[in-house]
Amino acid sequence: MLTAYDATMARLLDRAGIDALLVGDSLGMVIEGHETTIPVTLDAVLHHTQAVARGARRALVIADMPFLTYQVTVPEAMRNAARLIQVGGASAVKLEGGLPVAETVRRLVEAGIPVMGHIGLTPQAVHQLGGFRTVGASGREAERLLQDAQALQQAGAFAIVIECIPAETARAITAQIDIPTIGIGAGAGCDGQVLVSYDAFGLFDGKVPRFVKRYADLGEQMVAAARQYIAEVQQEKFPAAEHSVRVNSAGGKGR
Ligand code: KIV
Repeated sequence: MLTAYDATMARLLDRAGIDALLVGDSLGMVIEGHETTIPVTLDAVLHHTQAVARGARRALVIADMPFLTYQVTVPEAMRNAARLIQVGGASAVKLEGGLPVAETVRRLVEAGIPVMGHIGLTPQAVHQLGGFRTVGASGREAERLLQDAQALQQAGAFAIVIECIPAETARAITAQIDIPTIGIGAGAGCDGQVLVSYDAFGLFDGKVPRFVKRYADLGEQMVAAARQYIAEVQQEKFPAAEHSVRVNSAGGKGR
């Protein structure tokens, strides 16, 4: 799984064969420029989900439920999740937390909405956690993570993202539940993996977690391409004759 926020990215990742596209609330950081995911609104996720759903052909599109769109009351969570599915075009939603959100997950699943859980480092709880930190290093935290995973499974979640926990804890949780675990910073013992695409492709120029592998340096390539464009415009090398529209070439369709 990779994150996607627009139709072009969705089309490209779909073409590459990705199984699932997550319209993560990480968009608050990599698209909107916030320090955390907390300011992200339902409307923002909805907007980006619509774009991703238009671009995806085969991949499962999962929309993240933003902070406080599912914790206040179950009916509110159901209405908000329904918008992401009905209006946004997602096929599933993801929400953060374990035992405390299990009842909400159960009700969403009963209503026909597939739900992906998310435990470990849950970025919407960054202030409660005291920063973006590893969770589950102590025996007590590891035990609680397992209870959270079991509660989500029992509630009907179809998969669980496990973020930033020790590899051995993630492996143990994966072995003790039947639904797939999707790791991020949780080692190789999970059933699947997810990364924020802007981190993985080198597009995000802010601080990137240590567990990210950079598969490309698209940010640097964009800077170099933009510099070349600026220089060619200044030097009047662009547009060349072949890039100019001629009177008798009008009438063509699209771009
Ligand atoms: O918002 C997001 O992109 C996520 C992933 C990091 C799993 O939740």
